[in-house]
Amino acid sequence: MNLTTEPLGKSRGSSLNGEIRPPGDKSISHRALILASLARGQSRIEGLLQSEDVRATANACRQLGMTSSEQAETLLIDGVGRAGFTAPGAPLDMGNSGTAMRLLAGVLAAQPFRSILLGDASLSQRPMRRIVQPLELMGARIKTTESGTPPLAIEGSAQLKGIDYESPVASAQVKSCVLLAGLYAQGRTRVSEPRKSRDHTEKMLPSFGIPMEHGCSVAGGSQLSATRIEVPGDISSATFFLVAASMIPGSALLLRDVGLNETRDGIIHVLQAMGADLTLENRRMYGQEAVGDIRIRHGGCLQGIDIPAEWIPSLIDELPAIMALAAVSGGVTRIRGAQELRLKESDRIAVMARGLETLGVRLKEYPDGIDIEGGAIGSGVLDGAGDHRCAMSFCILGQLAAGSVTVTGTENIDTSYPGFVHDLAAVGGNICNNERSGVQLDE
Ligand code: S3P
Repeated sequence: MNLTTEPLGKSRGSSLNGEIRPPGDKSISHRALILASLARGQSRIEGLLQSEDVRATANACRQLGMTSSEQAETLLIDGVGRAGFTAPGAPLDMGNSGTAMRLLAGVLAAQPFRSILLGDASLSQRPMRRIVQPLELMGARIKTTESGTPPLAIEGSAQLKGIDYESPVASAQVKSCVLLAGLYAQGRTRVSEPRKSRDHTEKMLPSFGIPMEHGCSVAGGSQLSATRIEVPGDISSATFFLVAASMIPGSALLLRDVGLNETRDGIIHVLQAMGADLTLENRRMYGQEAVGDIRIRHGGCLQGIDIPAEWIPSLIDELPAIMALAAVSGGVTRIRGAQELRLKESDRIAVMARGLETLGVRLKEYPDGIDIEGGAIGSGVLDGAGDHRCAMSFCILGQLAAGSVTVTGTENIDTSYPGFVHDLAAVGGNICNNERSGVQLDE
């Protein structure tokens, strides 16, 4: 699917204005579904992200025995209890979602049955040894392809043993996978990591009655009990609009109910360091998760910065949008320590670099990052490469381009932000879905 943007000011207004409530947080949505499925009793999840990735997790949980119903905006999940999953009659399809596959693998490693997890072409290229290794140390047996990619054939074991796992990567998917398996293991399971990754699993487990000790350790054998989870708006989805408002003159946006968990808020620090006019309002908590409204105004051209490696885990998913912003900011933005970005839904450093080069941006790629020199940008056809975050970043950048920008490979925007085109048009963006015969989606 292709999307085409025209520079603002040509046929519509010249800035973005209004309010957006970004869709529910994807990471929190996956975790809420999995834990509620394993809990005893009925859990209520409010504001769950309705996207393809989250649907993959929900469908898998249903194949394993969970049942659910909807009541207005709330999903009611009848959990099966920690030992209640039953053997799926068919392989579990995780679609495009690495989080769905890696988190569920942790649970399935501890079940007394065999399961197969598979995914789309992108997910089938992603590294799984990072979870297979710790799960095998705990006593599971898991087969991958020779190169360590999906499908996964998991021979679960009801006799897992707790481990003290020093993860070589700062990955919340690895950490959460091991902690979920640890819920079933004999003894205690601890995970440490080189830098702190997002901590939604650690924050959510206590709501289901599972205490966390020393930050990142669970005891095996406890029951989960049903609870209510309120899902904040996804800061990773809000990012496209934060970046858009700070790059487009005259823009002023209010992003409501955005998750501000301190392991996810690197984008706020980057925008502030680049000189953005941003304020946080109405700060509150949804359970253990910080939430607030973000008001952002265009306050002049932003300045490129060096993004240190320590910041990377807290903004890993925002880097494509940050690269787009760097392309129209003053000076050079340098990103390092981001080698993980090459292992996402696409090689995001390469995909963003090729697109920016098409627009005439001067840049230099490194194995773990990129230097981007800001300036005026041209126009052209950019390949989103089936990666939702790269595709949305290019659509935002297109609002400031010299002429039309066509973004190909945009179909996976629906994995995280199905309403993106609508929301961008609703605040004044100039975007059109070519598949819908050039209709402007601003209804
Ligand atoms: C996620 C963790 C991150 C992130 C991904 C979601 C999660 O991946 O990039 O989009 O929900 O745990 P890694 O664990 O590979 O860093």
